[in-house]
Amino acid sequence: DKGGHKHFMAKEIAEQPHVIAEAIRHYLPVEEDAVRLPGEGVDFSGVERLTMVACGTAYYACVTAKYWFEQIARLPVEVDIASEFRYREPPIPGKTLALFVSQSGETADTLAALRYCQEKADKILSVVNVPESSIARESDLALPIFAGPEIGVASTKAFTCQLTVLLALALKAACDRGHLSPEEMSEYATAIRGLPNVLSSALEQNEAIRLAAQKVSEARDVLFLGRGLMFPLALEGALKLKEISYIHAEAYASGELKHGPIALIDKNMPVVVLTPRDSLFDKSVSNMQEVLARKGKVLMISDQDGIDEAGDDVWCAIRMPRVKEALSPILYAIPAQLLAYHTAVAKGTDVDQPRNLAKSVTVE
Ligand code: M6R
Repeated sequence: DKGGHKHFMAKEIAEQPHVIAEAIRHYLPVEEDAVRLPGEGVDFSGVERLTMVACGTAYYACVTAKYWFEQIARLPVEVDIASEFRYREPPIPGKTLALFVSQSGETADTLAALRYCQEKADKILSVVNVPESSIARESDLALPIFAGPEIGVASTKAFTCQLTVLLALALKAACDRGHLSPEEMSEYATAIRGLPNVLSSALEQNEAIRLAAQKVSEARDVLFLGRGLMFPLALEGALKLKEISYIHAEAYASGELKHGPIALIDKNMPVVVLTPRDSLFDKSVSNMQEVLARKGKVLMISDQDGIDEAGDDVWCAIRMPRVKEALSPILYAIPAQLLAYHTAVAKGTDVDQPRNLAKSVTVE
């Protein structure tokens, strides 16, 4: 049942305020400004290293979480793609926690990587959407994301729910390790509880994004740029676009532009710049100006302040609400998903069942 939407993907994008609220209710119950984990939970005070492994969109959720664990909890993190990790047979030093992220919980490479870590890591955690899945069953602690069934092959609501749970886990780690005061924790809790409303107002930009997507649908290649927490989101935006619209898309950390990809910029190249008015805004805008100077078509996704400050010469601007900086990837996922969705619709591709792809990759 598509609930009145044309595609499951559209329905699942629209469901995000609701499913995220459900995840928040479980991990940040209203009675207390502390993170609550299921079962025995996990204590991060003696943990020295976190290794996160996944594939595809779940991998980008891990890359995002690396920024949170390192910046907020001061915990060193390694992130890897499951198909690389499993055959590299990396050493797992003591006091390592291994964390696997998978919507389906059945991805063959992720499951093999998990099995490799059994008996080696201190504890195996997973962040899954299907609680009965193999990955959930074979972990010491499975953290459900409460996204509900995801039918569209392109992952959307599972991604933002994974991010929400991973952020909660990073906050728990920060508290356990003495890097977050109770006041700071309650500030985060308040901001996170505000996310469902913030996501709803982001969804109101649907029409503006649809119009931008009409133009993007004519491109052969699209570049995505982001810095800091917006870099993994740029990777996710590019994956989403190529999966369902078949337009070649690539993402770079904005600071890498000069190291090669700037050679691609000309008047035919749309460049999606994800840049909230945050601590890295000035740096990110200076990269955006390098694109503009070469006549690249900049699609700027920012907030009102960011657009007022730097949006004058852009091809088009999409306005997002303001959120606490750490929460921006959860919010900016919405325009990235809608852009891919409307571009695919404009091109007439099969949005829910893109060619050559399966929802769950259970063979390697
Ligand atoms: O079920 P999983 O989260 O383990 O799946 C991982 C990837 O196969 C998945 O995220 C894939 O990249 C999606 N098609 C992305 O939209």
